[in-house]
Formats: sequence, structure tokens, C-alpha cells
Amino acid sequence: MTSAEIVVVGSYNRDVSLSVERMPAPGETCLGLGRVESPGGKGSNQAIQAARCGAPTAMVAAIGHDAAGDEALALWSEAGVVTSGVARLAGQGTGMAVILVDARGENAIVVDSGANAHLAPEHVDAAATLIGGARLVVAQLETPVAATVRAFEIARAAGAATLLNAAPAPEAIDGALLALTDFLVVNEIEGKALSGHETAAAIGETLLGRVGKGVIVTLGAEGAMLFEHHRPPHRQSSSKVEVVDTTGAGDAFTGAFAARWIATGDAPAALAWGVAAGALACTAQGAAASYADRDRIAALAGA
Ligand code: RIB
Repeated sequence: MTSAEIVVVGSYNRDVSLSVERMPAPGETCLGLGRVESPGGKGSNQAIQAARCGAPTAMVAAIGHDAAGDEALALWSEAGVVTSGVARLAGQGTGMAVILVDARGENAIVVDSGANAHLAPEHVDAAATLIGGARLVVAQLETPVAATVRAFEIARAAGAATLLNAAPAPEAIDGALLALTDFLVVNEIEGKALSGHETAAAIGETLLGRVGKGVIVTLGAEGAMLFEHHRPPHRQSSSKVEVVDTTGAGDAFTGAFAARWIATGDAPAALAWGVAAGALACTAQGAAASYADRDRIAALAGA
């Protein structure tokens, strides 16, 4: 397969997750309870979840000529994710994230961007046919904005929709990027950074005026809210699950939302899949390694 309905322009990281009883205070050393290495990166996580939901999916990304880059390609190949838009960069290591996961499953993440920081508009241009043939182009903020703007320009020119997950939380958002965005996905921290508001309602209503189709505010264990033009806000609550590790739950949400929206064109139905996928991702260790397939997500979403 050389084409895809969803093209994700974004990051890949090798995640090194350390379990801790509690998060250390500044200046404190504490002994970890164990270490797990697994695939991560917000872009790759979202692509893997979309593919597990059955959507033909491709990655546009930058990785290094190293063992972690080889692992990324093997992961995408196994998941059926198209990799013709992936650049291997000389002299840059594949991205890496160090993640602390506490006894409640909450996490704190530091990313060493490596090759991700060098994804450039030229790499996006090289994947223009792939991007232009998609129905939805998805991006985050772990790779340079200039590359994402270029991808969204290509998408818009070809009539494809765009989805921006504004994570990690930005200090400010590029106005051109937001103007090219159809769906904006934020959690409450990211939403506050973009809108200056604290509540989901105020975040959603404020940001909706700046995007084409809709704003989704994810609320962790409380589910998510969807704000669309000319429709009242829609709330989707989450099923209670036993939380092991919340890492990558937001990415599972975005990947499953994207896949279901492509399949149905129904944003509330896609919201239900996103919330179900996010909840299931919390029940096992790691990011992409913890993601459920479409049958489990459909069963929990009730559709
Ligand atoms: O959203 C979770 C992801 O953030 C991790 O996989 C880590 O790599 C960072 O990108």
C-alpha cells in the first residue's frame, strides 16, 4: 500500500519508562521500581492507534540511522503503517523520551527530540503525493511548526481535513497553523495555554472561533467535550478502568477519534471511540504498546 486515508506528520521517540512510588521533588534522588523501554512519540502513537482501529494510515517523520530508528520502521511495518514519507537523517539520533510513572499511573515526560527537531518542509514536500491523497492529516507539536504548516497547506489544497493535537502545551500557537486546522484536540493544560481559560466550556467556545470544524477538550478520567459550529457542546463520559499507566492515553484518543471520523464522518461517534481508546490505553504499561484494537474499542464505546 502506498496511499493512506490518514497521514500523521509527527514524532517518534524511544520511550524509557521508570516506575516510581511518587514523583521526586526538585533536587531529590529516589530509587526506581523498574524500567520498561517501548515505542512512543506522540505522532507515532497516534498513527499506531489509528491503524489498530482499521484506518489505512501513513507516517511522515524524521528518524536517525540507529537501532531506535530500525525499531520504529519495524513497528510501523508490523502495524501496516505506510512509511514512504519517513526520512532517515544522517548525523541525528532518533528521538527519545524519559518517562516517570508513579504508583497512581500518572506520568511526567522529558523528550530529547533528536531527529524529530529536524523534520523540515522539504521532507513534507517529498511526501506531498501521500499527503494530498489523504482524507485527514494529523499533527502534534513535537515536530517543527514549519513542517506542519506545509503539510496542512498541502492538505487544504487537496481538499483533505486537518487535525492538530496541540501537545506538548505551547507557550503560544502559530496563527497560520491554527487557521489551517479543522479539528483541534487539547487537554485542559494545553487549552489554557492557547485560550487563557480554565474550564472546558470556555476553552472550547473560545478556540472554536479559530478553527474550521471543531474543538475537542479531553478531560482524563472524566472523558471529553466536543465543540462544533452550529451544534450544542457534546460531552462523552469515560468508563471506569483500572489505571496502570496513563502514558499515551491522549494519543490513543486522537488516533481513534481520527479513525472513527474517517469511517463515519460523525464527530460525536468519533468522540466516543477516542474516549474508549484513551481509557483502554491506561490499563497497560507503555504508550503504543498498550493500545487496544478496534473490537475492544468498539465494545467499550458501544458502537
Ligand atoms: O504522549 C505520550 C508520548 O509523549 C510518549 O510516548 C513520549 O514519547 C512523548 O512523545
